[in-house]
Amino acid sequence: MSTADAELITSSLVFHRVGSAAALRAGEPIGATIEGQAVAVFLVDDEFIATQGICPHATGPLHEGEVEGRTLTCPWHGWSFDLDSGVCEDDPCLQLARYPVKVDGDDILVGL
Ligand code: FES
Repeated sequence: MSTADAELITSSLVFHRVGSAAALRAGEPIGATIEGQAVAVFLVDDEFIATQGICPHATGPLHEGEVEGRTLTCPWHGWSFDLDSGVCEDDPCLQLARYPVKVDGDDILVGL
């Protein structure tokens, strides 16, 4: 993908407020719904990471999962996901969608 293609894709995104940066910094992941799509946002090593909010295994609520290092563990059956790639460590055929995040003041904005 060229830089121009990446810019085109980014420019077509609409960023939606999903919650507070202060709440995330206090250790509370965000679970939100944007236009009917569940998303989850985590703070990992001072980086905001947004993923799909529903586990691809059996629809567990990922914002309720545990984050250790850069790995997210689903609260329902304990499957783990690499937050950098989205790939499931228990079934590499599964991969979380990741979304761009912007911070505006205290607002966390996720682009879809
Ligand atoms: S629903 Fe997430 S591991 Fe089963």
